[in-house]
Amino acid sequence: MTATVPGSDVSDIAPPRSERDRVIVFDTTMRDGEQSPGASMSLEEKLELAKILEDMRVDVIEAGFPIASNGDFEAVRQVSEIITESIVCGLARAGMADIDRCAEAIKKAKRGRIHTFLSTSPSHRDHILHASQDDILEMITKSVTHARNLCGDVEWSAQDATRTEQDFLRRCVDAAIKAGATTINLPDTVGYTYPSEYADIFRDIIENVDGADRVIFSTHCHNDLGLAVANSLAGVQGGARQVEVAVNGIGERAGNAALEEIVMALKVRGDRLPFHTGVETQHITRASRYVSAITGFPVQFNKAIVGKNAFAHESGIHQDGMLKDRGTYEIMQPDDVGQGASNLVMGKHSGRHAFREKLKALGYELGQNALNEAFQRFKDLADKKKHVFDDDLVALVDDALASGADRIQVKHLRVIAGTEGPQEAFLTVTVEGEEKSAQATGDGPVDAVFNAIHAVMPHDAILRLFQVHAVTEGTDAQAQVSVRLEEDGRIATGQAADTDTLTASAKAYVNALNNLLARKEKNAPQAIASGF
Ligand code: KIV
Ligand code: ZN
Repeated sequence: MTATVPGSDVSDIAPPRSERDRVIVFDTTMRDGEQSPGASMSLEEKLELAKILEDMRVDVIEAGFPIASNGDFEAVRQVSEIITESIVCGLARAGMADIDRCAEAIKKAKRGRIHTFLSTSPSHRDHILHASQDDILEMITKSVTHARNLCGDVEWSAQDATRTEQDFLRRCVDAAIKAGATTINLPDTVGYTYPSEYADIFRDIIENVDGADRVIFSTHCHNDLGLAVANSLAGVQGGARQVEVAVNGIGERAGNAALEEIVMALKVRGDRLPFHTGVETQHITRASRYVSAITGFPVQFNKAIVGKNAFAHESGIHQDGMLKDRGTYEIMQPDDVGQGASNLVMGKHSGRHAFREKLKALGYELGQNALNEAFQRFKDLADKKKHVFDDDLVALVDDALASGADRIQVKHLRVIAGTEGPQEAFLTVTVEGEEKSAQATGDGPVDAVFNAIHAVMPHDAILRLFQVHAVTEGTDAQAQVSVRLEEDGRIATGQAADTDTLTASAKAYVNALNNLLARKEKNAPQAIASGF
């Protein structure tokens, strides 16, 4: 075991005894979350998300699976360069090439981690790996030793741990600890376990494996039976001190345990669960909205913590109680998770300084150019819309960040809609400054707009998702549109907001097209095949 290799100082994440109740939050939105069909994110989006997670004080950011594609490698490499506080982690299978590629990707990280995994259950041993128990033990020793020679912070995961024979799981964990793993993750890969059972698995391993007191144990729960959060919390009660989570609970199949739910459960129920995280919870809503916007996955209205209705009180009895004492029907405040009431912010006479301060309060620190552009957009919006709310600003800035560097931009759009068909769109775009125009008809105005984009920029991408939602209430609300395109297995999402739904649709489609082109040029990732 080496003590001088990069990232070898893990003492600050392995809490001393007095801090035994601190739970490390490991975010896998960009890795397991991105494995949700259709949830792929561009490099720029991953970099922005990494900054949001770091602002939120997430302890570990799993930024990708470097050997899976050049795009994933680049994401882990560039996240490693910009993140200074959180640990940046990459995933690797047990092979040496995987581990080397991962080590290369995290090389520049101030605090890097290699996360290597191997299946341990009989089902995976027999049907995927065709390996005996002894083969598995040998692979664990080799892979973890190799990883530890490259990085001092190594996490080892027993894929499908919850369907593994318990005595064999103990031997696997023992091998990983002996080889130098600093974190041991016992994933419920297929979302099969039950809370009391998961807690027992941790208790048994922690009590019976030599050296268990020197490592951090981690939960990683999938939500196939809707138990991911309950199982993760049970794992913590069983002795785990790291939880692997994803924003909005996105992830393979039914998803991963939701970051916001676990963090708030630990915060609100400290009486039953005397553990805490370092997460600054007022950033939660912003992270949730950003992940929803870049993936195009809507957050259900009644979703715990981050749903639009999570703090809405409709019934008269509840409203009456709330007026008398908020505690009658509210166990946490919307402000705790950054879901303040939608405030009226400013009108068209508001100045640049007030605008910058407002954005700061909403969690955005923009550079001078981005600020100027956002301010101009705000002025344009304030001309069209009487009341500009916090949610409008969030949509506006996210839109500016998403499309700012786009090579193709929508310049003019005119649409003929109504009961007398055919609906028709006249579109002008600029491609690196050069104007191109086209006109098209369609089966409805949106179809006409998208056909006009096709005419001006011929392409083979297939539209996989078209989604519109109103940012605020009222008929002058901005429409926020998400578009997902797929071409040759590559998926790209685009977003835009505008008070004109058709303009927002055109801009979101063009933004998705830009992201697709950028991916093609960089030979960026095809969606990682499932099976992890
Ligand atoms: O669900 C799982 O087992 C995983 C591992 C790769 C950690 O995602
Ligand atoms: Zn997983």
